[in-house]
Amino acid sequence: MNRKALYAGSFDPITNGHMDIIERAAGLFDSLTVAVVVNPGKHALFTVEERLDIIKELTSRFPNVCADSFDGLLADYVNSNGFCAVVRGLRSTADFENEIVMAQMNARLYKNDTETVFLMTKPEHSFISSSVIKEVASLGGSVDALVPGYVIERINHKLREENK
Ligand code: COA
Repeated sequence: MNRKALYAGSFDPITNGHMDIIERAAGLFDSLTVAVVVNPGKHALFTVEERLDIIKELTSRFPNVCADSFDGLLADYVNSNGFCAVVRGLRSTADFENEIVMAQMNARLYKNDTETVFLMTKPEHSFISSSVIKEVASLGGSVDALVPGYVIERINHKLREENK
């Protein structure tokens, strides 16, 4: 059986915490789709196309990982693509509170027996979020070791463009 899993998020931008989850999930499933979801409640630095481009560049070394994007309900995307699992990273008990609500709601919406699989974030990534990366980088602070070098280049390029 081909065990396809989904890892969805805003990824604005993708961080070392996300990369760690991707690497570990890619080892657990036959294939992993990393999907960019637009969250209208969040101020985005990168367009969906830019985020996809960055994800493709950073995941090209994993032969069983691909990138995509979708709008609307995660459960609809899962139902149309036959994923057996949705992977989520857990950084803290605060994440758990939110995740359990989403997992239980999504479970009602899945047509098949799709499982939500939680991977514990490594301690060194537990404080990272895309927002904190954007805030620190935009104020000139170092985000080295928190995001891949390629993401730092793209953030700096984007900030230079915005400040023109
Ligand atoms: N390492 C580092 N940071 C991490 C991380 C990890 N392992 N896991 C999560 N984060 C960070 C993210 O960068 C993000 O930071 P931000 O809030 O500053 O952007 C934050 O934690 C929250 O991440 P996440 O919970 O994955 O939120 P998200 O907005 O990236 O994605 C969706 C949430 C897309 C999965 C969810 O909103 C969704 O399913 N949307 C579709 C609509 C839908 O179906 N809604 C009904 C749900 S029941």
